[in-house]
Amino acid sequence: MSILVTGGAGYIGSHTCVELLNEGYEVVVLDNLSNSSVKSLERVEELTGKKITFYKGDILDRVILNEIFEKEEIESCIHFAGLKAVGESVAKPWEYYTNNVTGTLTLVDVMRQHGCKNIIFSSSATVYGEPAEIPISENCPKGQCESPYAWTKSMLEQMLIDIQKADKEWNVIILRYFNPIGAHKSGRIGENPNGIPNNLMPYVTQVAVGKLEHLGIFGNDYDTPDGTGVRDYIHVVDLARGHVKALHKIDENIELGIYNLGTGQGKSVMDVVKTFEAANNIKIPYVIKNRRPGDIASYYCTPEKAKEELGWVAEYGLREMCEDSWRWQSNNPNGYEN
Ligand code: UD1
Repeated sequence: MSILVTGGAGYIGSHTCVELLNEGYEVVVLDNLSNSSVKSLERVEELTGKKITFYKGDILDRVILNEIFEKEEIESCIHFAGLKAVGESVAKPWEYYTNNVTGTLTLVDVMRQHGCKNIIFSSSATVYGEPAEIPISENCPKGQCESPYAWTKSMLEQMLIDIQKADKEWNVIILRYFNPIGAHKSGRIGENPNGIPNNLMPYVTQVAVGKLEHLGIFGNDYDTPDGTGVRDYIHVVDLARGHVKALHKIDENIELGIYNLGTGQGKSVMDVVKTFEAANNIKIPYVIKNRRPGDIASYYCTPEKAKEELGWVAEYGLREMCEDSWRWQSNNPNGYEN
């Protein structure tokens, strides 16, 4: 039996493939490579000494989905595939709703036709909107989303919950990620954003490697200890392991589970800059800019539910996240290109 990993060539997907293979799972990846490289999978194979069955294709494509479920014995699906750039989603809502929502509904339909009703869905902390409480627990109500990207995650959560409610054969686990950063310890796989990065850590590493001149810090007048925005950064390897724990939970027929995956530690933009500088002995020049529209002062979770029910806790701290992000970026200044 195999695990289907959609979007398995991407940042979180590739790290999850490593953890799955290391745990002895057979892995089938479906990825359209629109924002990822097949080289990540070659490197996953190199790191684990194991093979991945790869299909290049789209979750909107029923033909390839049917082919996978006919040829492979898929027991569960970990579903990462989707568009994920917040700003782009505001400019291209149709593309985001079609790819993410219609794509997931197509995947789920093909899954049920083949009797595979176990899914782990890659959601985001962004579904809480302006959070009603800090730290954010899973009991915190979902909020108004800031972008079509965030709405796709919020809507898909609801769709999966309703599908599970109507058919108890489904096991649905929704994982709400906080801010994934870091990279595999080997420095062989990591985040490989297209163009100028929007997120903090890839921006910092590109400044460190000399591709960008300085970091812009979006606001230093927030109501936080040092005035800069506070987030819950989580090492991507810890996050990947959370998916393996979720698979174990599916074996117990959980039916429905919703979990925050974060460390529970709020760290500011300045904490990230200072920790990166100290860990890697590199200066990160920065300028203070205006606040970025849509940003919230503090966003961090309580990861207690994942600890109690999945037996999962994040092991790595910010320093290791900074070291590992830098090892990846400095060894691969152009990502997977050459
Ligand atoms: C962003 C998305 C969120 C998505 C997540 C995925 C927005 C509004 N939210 O979260 O929906 O799920 O990425 O990882 O885009 N910062 C700077 N300078 C920069 C970049 C960021 O100061 O060049 C600051 C931000 O203001 C924020 C912190 O760094 O305080 C983290 O930002 P970012 O990495 O973009 O993540 P989020 O905004 O938390």
